Parts: sequence; C-alpha cells; structure tokens
Amino acid sequence: METKTKVSKDFPKGKVAYFVTTNIHKFLEAHNVLSEYKIATAKLKVEATEIQDDSLENIAKFSAHDAVKNSGLPIFVGDAGLFVEALNGFPGPYSAFVYRTVGPQGILDLMQNKTNRNAYFQTVIAYCEPNGEPKTFCGKVEGTICMEQKGDLGFGYDPIFVPNRGDGRTFAQMSTDEKNVYSHRAEALRKFAEWYSGVGKRIF
Ligand code: IMP
Repeated sequence: METKTKVSKDFPKGKVAYFVTTNIHKFLEAHNVLSEYKIATAKLKVEATEIQDDSLENIAKFSAHDAVKNSGLPIFVGDAGLFVEALNGFPGPYSAFVYRTVGPQGILDLMQNKTNRNAYFQTVIAYCEPNGEPKTFCGKVEGTICMEQKGDLGFGYDPIFVPNRGDGRTFAQMSTDEKNVYSHRAEALRKFAEWYSGVGKRIF
C-alpha cells in the first residue's frame, strides 16, 4: 500500500504535522498518537476535493494533492471506510455518503438477518509536500458489527463496531486513548509517525 515519495530536500523539516480535517475526534486521535513520537499536530482547514473511487488510497492521494495545492504546506489527510463482510464490503469507500444518508442505524437495518457480523475499518493516511508525490500509510482493524448502537463517545460508525482484540465494548464506549490501542487510524498514524520522525532528520 505504501508508495514511493519524492520529498524535497530543501523543504524546512520540523516536528509539526498539519492534519487537514474538520473532524475534532480524528484530530484528537492523531494528536494523541503523534505526541507519543514528539510530533505536534496542527489542525488545518483547507479545501480538499474528496473524489468517489473504489480505492481509499486513490481518494486519499487525490485529497492530499489538492490540499497541498490549496495551502502550499506539507500536509496529511486520511480517508477511511467500514467494510462489512455480509454486505460484500459495503459501505467501504462510500462510508461517508452512507453515513450522511442512513447512518449507523441504516447498516444495522441491513444486517438484521445476518449471522455473519464480521467487518473491518481501514484508513489510508496520505502525506504530501509541495512539489512532491503523496506517500501513503495504511491501518486496519478487524471486528464485528453489534446488534444495536452502544456508547456515545467517538463519531461515525463507532457505536456499532466492536474490535476483535478489545473487551467487547464498541469504539463509542472507549476513550480516545483506548480506541487508539486498536484502531485503524492509530495504526496508520503510527506508521506515518515512524517515517516522519526519521525522514530528513527533522531537527526542530
Ligand atoms: P473518512 O473518509 O475518514 O471521512 O471516513 C468515511 C466515513 O467513515 C465517515 O463519514 C465516518 O463517519 C466513518 N469513519 C471514519 N473513520 C471512522 C472511525 O474511526 N470510527 C467510526 N466511523 C469512522
């Protein structure tokens, strides 16, 4: 899933990473993970087109390019999806649209007679610098779709997703730090952070 990147040598390197998102929950997840690597996260509001595509990686790369073009800054973006086995991977890359239209209850309704509750979340983080190509980092968490919504923390499909490695609670019943132990986004962010801490021996 990782792609080759062209990181310009003369671009000022620093331990700040600009996250293009309007979602405070995603920002806090990123802030907490990246701070483990002594990287400060800045939340940036920039226009970034989200294309429709079957591949999260393509969507994330396109948004990253667009956000760099519109901001002139090195940035990272994330694109995620919930893939439900009994629904042949639906909503997958269309998770945002499905969330806006029918929400988590719509997924539960579609799953009413399904005994196979397996699902996974996937995130692709795309980092891009001006005049560079995006570099991507992938994270995935396996779990199940529960029978009813539980919990009021987090966002999106958190109330219906129970990670396999957890203790039976949904993501919406976990604090940000607990969710970060298991989550797709945290895994992708850790891969990004390890790479970002090392590249170009960032010095400030
Ligand atoms: P996005 O591409 O990151 O915006 O994610 C697509 C959709 O999936 C969003 O509308 C969110 O509601 C949902 N989503 C993304 N990440 C998560 C997560 O960590 N938990 C629950 N829902 C998520």
